[in-house]
Amino acid sequence: MKPPVRHVLEVDDLSADELALVLDAAARPPEKPVLAGRGMALLFEKPSARTRHSMEMAVVQLGGHPVSIAGGEVGIDARESAEDIARTLACYHAAIGARVFDHRVLERMAAVSPVPVVNMLSDAAHPLQALADLLTVQQEFGDVAGRTIAYVGDANNVARSLAIGAAVAGAEFAMATPEGHRFADADLERIAAAGRPARVVDDPAEAVDGAHAVYTDVWVSMGQEEEAAERMDAFAGRYTVDEQLMSRAAPDAIFLHCLPARPGLEVTPEVLYGAQSRIWPQAENRMHAARALLALLLDTP
Ligand code: CP
Ligand code: NVA
Repeated sequence: MKPPVRHVLEVDDLSADELALVLDAAARPPEKPVLAGRGMALLFEKPSARTRHSMEMAVVQLGGHPVSIAGGEVGIDARESAEDIARTLACYHAAIGARVFDHRVLERMAAVSPVPVVNMLSDAAHPLQALADLLTVQQEFGDVAGRTIAYVGDANNVARSLAIGAAVAGAEFAMATPEGHRFADADLERIAAAGRPARVVDDPAEAVDGAHAVYTDVWVSMGQEEEAAERMDAFAGRYTVDEQLMSRAAPDAIFLHCLPARPGLEVTPEVLYGAQSRIWPQAENRMHAARALLALLLDTP
C-alpha cells in the first residue's frame, strides 16, 4: 500500500525526531537526488525574495526543476478553484509549494493533492522560516533544546511557527507582545501541545532577560496594510529591539530576523547589522533547511 502523502503546513506536521533529522541533514550536502527528472511548483500570491530563491535552489540541489508561478497566473478561486489548481499542478510536479493570503487555501489544496503541499507562508504560519531559524540557533550553540528564544513584537505567522518549532525542539519560547496582538488561546494550546508552553509577557526586557536568541519581525505583515496606523501605535516606542534591550540577553546571544526588516521600527540598524546579528546565515539557512525538508518528504521508496 502507498504511504499517505505528507504535507507540511506548520512545523508540528513534523515529529520531534523528524525535525531533528531535518536540522542535522540541513548541515550536510544532499545525499540523494530525490527530485531527479521531477519538478516542484512554487506558487506565490505575495512577493518573495528569500523563499522563492531558497526553494528554487533547494529543488535544483535535489536534481529537480522548480517552476515559480505568480498567483495571478493561475487565479486561485478566480480562474480555477484552489483544489483544481492543486490537482493540475500534481499532474506535472512531485510537490507543490504555495504562499497564500488565507491559510485555508493551503488546507484545501492539501486535502486533495496527491503530492506533498508545503506552506511557503500564509497569514497563519511560516514553517520553512522556522526551520531555518532553529537551524541557525543549532549552528550557533550546538543544540536547540534547552535554549531560550525571545520574540519581541507581533504574534504573527513567523512568531507562531517559531513558537511551535521551539516547542517541538524543546526550547523555551518567551514572547513580549502588547495586548491585542497576542496569540489566541487556541494558538497557546497548540504550542503547549507541541512540547512546551510559551511564556507571554508585556515587557520586552522580561522576555529577553538571559535569552540565547532575540527575534523580531515587522509590525505590519503582508496583507495587513490597512491596519498599519493602529499597529504603529501599538508597537512603536516600546517594542523596538535596540542595543539596550540586547544587553539584557545572554552575553553570547544572537539576533535573528526573518527579513525583510524595517530598520528603525522593530529593530535599530545597530542591532540588525551589528556583531550579534546572524540575519545573513539565517537567510542562507532557508535553502539548507528547505532542501533537507524536501528530501525527507520526497525520499519515499
Ligand atoms: N523571510 C521570507 O520569507 O522572506 P521573503 O518574503 O523575501 O520570501
Ligand atoms: N510577517 C511577515 C513575514 C515576511 C517574510 C509577513 O507575513 O509579511
